[in-house]
Order: sequence, then C-alpha cells, then structure tokens
Amino acid sequence: MLYFSPRGGPSLVNDKMMITLMELAFRTARNGLFCTAELAHARPTWESWIVVAAKRRAVFTMYLFSSVYNTDRLLPNFVADEMRGVYAPGNKALWEAEDRETWSKEYDRFMLRWEDGMLEISELWRSAETGSAERRERIERWVQSADEFGMTIFGTHNWRTASNSTAYLLPHISSTSKILDIGCGPGSISVDFASRAPQGNVTGIEYVPDPLDQARELASSKGLTNIEFRVGDIHSLDFPDNTFDIVHVHQVLQHIADPVKALQEMRRVVKPGGIVAARESSVMTWYPENKGIGAWLDITTRMAKAKGGNPHPGRLIHVWAEQAGFEQSRIQKSTGSWCFSTPEERQYWGGSMGARARSSGFAKTALEEGFATKEELESISDGWKEFVDAEQGWFGLLHGEILCRK
Ligand SMILES: C[S@@+](CC[C@H](N)C(=O)[O-])C[C@H]1O[C@@H](n2cnc3c(N)ncnc32)[C@H](O)[C@@H]1O
Repeated sequence: MLYFSPRGGPSLVNDKMMITLMELAFRTARNGLFCTAELAHARPTWESWIVVAAKRRAVFTMYLFSSVYNTDRLLPNFVADEMRGVYAPGNKALWEAEDRETWSKEYDRFMLRWEDGMLEISELWRSAETGSAERRERIERWVQSADEFGMTIFGTHNWRTASNSTAYLLPHISSTSKILDIGCGPGSISVDFASRAPQGNVTGIEYVPDPLDQARELASSKGLTNIEFRVGDIHSLDFPDNTFDIVHVHQVLQHIADPVKALQEMRRVVKPGGIVAARESSVMTWYPENKGIGAWLDITTRMAKAKGGNPHPGRLIHVWAEQAGFEQSRIQKSTGSWCFSTPEERQYWGGSMGARARSSGFAKTALEEGFATKEELESISDGWKEFVDAEQGWFGLLHGEILCRK
C-alpha cells in the first residue's frame, strides 16, 4: 500500500527510506535471529520463540521490500547471502497457536517433523541441489505447513513470470479476460495472468498432477480466487467450443506428440475473435566456450527427436498454426528472448540444468537408452557449474512467438 500510493504523485518510498529500512533490518538482526534452544534442537519458551520468529519475519519482509524496490527501479538485485543459515518462516500452526499449551504441543510435533534440521531460507534459493530428491522432499515438507507469509517468500523463487515470458501477449489481456494456460507447470505464469484479469478468470491445465499442488499454493499465497488448476491433455481439451478469450502455451508444443492437433484443439476452444498464443524456444548461444553445455544441447536434441518430439521448434510454430486452421495473415509473429547473466540468473538456469544432468528423469533416460554415458552426464553437469561460476558468463535463448486470431 505504502509503495504504490499516492496515485500519480511521487512515491513515498525513496532511496533514503530504503536505507533507513535496511538499517532497521540490520539492527533487528544484530542481537540474533535464533533462540539458543532452537539451535540445540530443543523447545524454547513460547515468548522467546515469538520474539525471534517475529524478528525473522520482519527481516525477510524488509529484504522482500527491497527486492521489489530494486526491480521497479531497474537496480540490480542480490542474493541475501548473509541470511543463508536463517530458518525459513514456518509454521502456520505454530504461528496461529492462541495459548501456551497448543503452541507447546505444536512445537513438539514441529521438532519431530524436522529431526533432520529445520529448513533454512537458502534451501529455497535455486542452486545445484534444487532438483535433488532430498531437497525437493524438504521443500515439499515445508510447503505443506507454511503459512501465507512463507508462501509469499516461496513465490518469489518461481523465476518465470508473465513479464519475462509472455510480453508479446500482455497488451491483449484485459481485466475481464477468460484465459486457458495449457501445460502450466508450477503455475508461475498462470497466476500472473490471473492478477492481470481480476474480473476474468484463468484455468491452468497440466498433463500430470505433480506440479499442480505447488501451483495452487502459489495462487492462494497471492490471494487469487479467479484461478483453478486441472489435469488435462492438450490433444483433447475437456472444454466446449468457443470458451476462452485467450488460449496460451509456453514451451509446451516442443514436448508433445502432435503439435498440429494441439493447436487445432486450442483453436476450437478459443472464442471467435479470440487469441491462441504460443511461445517456443528456437536457438541458444552462450559465453564462454563450454563443452559440457554443447554436449547437453546435442544430447537433449537427439533424445527429443528420437521420441518423436520437436526440440526447439520456435521457427516453425506459425506453420503448424496454419496447418491447424489459422489463416497466415491472422498469425502475428515475433521473437522474445531470455538472457541469464547475473550471478542469480546463472545460478537459476545453470544450477537447474546441472542438477537435471546428475539426477532426474532426463539423466535416467539418457543413461538407460544409451544417449549418454555416466561420464558424459558428469561432464555436462561440470559444464553447467563452470557456467554458473564464470563471472563473464551469459546464456541467451531466443523464442519464436505467435498470436493467432480465430
Ligand atoms: C517446459 S514445461 C513449461 C511449463 C510452463 N508453461 C512454464 O513455462 O513455466 C512443459 C509442460 O508441459 C506439460 N505437458 C507435456 N505434455 C502435455 C500434454 N499432452 N498436455 C498438457 N500439458 C503437457 C508438462 O507436464 C510440463 O509441465
């Protein structure tokens, strides 16, 4: 509220205020952000826990605020490395306990749940471990009991947004748009759509149920009520003809068996005059030279082709759209790119790719079906690590985009 008011006038928040806020955060943290009992994995007194948990929340809030401020002013953001070991805000039941007895019982349960050590905020940051089974299990355990504040912090870790992934479509979204987002994954783009269409609604669908819990949590952490998520297949959409104003996919057509059939289905469910929007990757480039990344591109491309997929099809989606029934003159083409160059961006992109090369469905299939040896996967993972650590490193990804009018 403070940040966005007064309307039209100069913002009340300026550099001086941000410096004062950071000074406050520093002073809040100076006398400690843990109880001695917490560090010994014992139950602290209710009072000391309230003080220390509130301090942690206050400091996290100030960091969040500063990150919004920096982003808005196009200033660089940074990973709050000094907060690395601080416990992530949890847990809803503890925070909501109204008397000592309830709190003590909940705290005992909480300690049992976290016998392997409480979740630290840095475990939510993207890193080489993010994709590991152990890290995912810990994050999921934390999400199950986090409150709205925790989810706000978690939400900031979903890198893909409507702004960085769908800029070509945004001018066409109105406050009343009815939008279908197919292959929505963890829903970070879908929830952005929902907040841009407050009197409209968004339906996100996914082939597999796994990412949908995270998507629902994200939507509820943002207080959105105009969005729902369902399981469904893009090849046969479970909606009547002419239902949506906008039907959208981002990096989905490259993964599926029959993109033309998928676009036909998208065309069927969009209203006359509505828009089918698609954005798919096309070409990639990076610096410095990196054999591991070269091998990654080669193996992922060969694997996708062998499975009948169409890797990086951004340059031909307009052709598929025409085959699906759209007139070429009603297909608007554009390009949009991603660039990973700051340390955080390199960490997000290179870290997650490196983790996939070590242990994931991709690594398992590559090994089992003879696309790569264990040594090759290790060298890919090392390549991504080198990229993350390279101060001059950057990775660019060009997408093809289409807006098709029915
Ligand atoms: C690269 S992810 C993109 C996720 C999301 N659109 C984003 O950009 O953040 C591709 C998604 O397509 C989904 N998908 C694959 N085949 C599908 C199908 N037949 N129908 C619907 N979704 C599908 C996958 O489960 C996966 O979540």
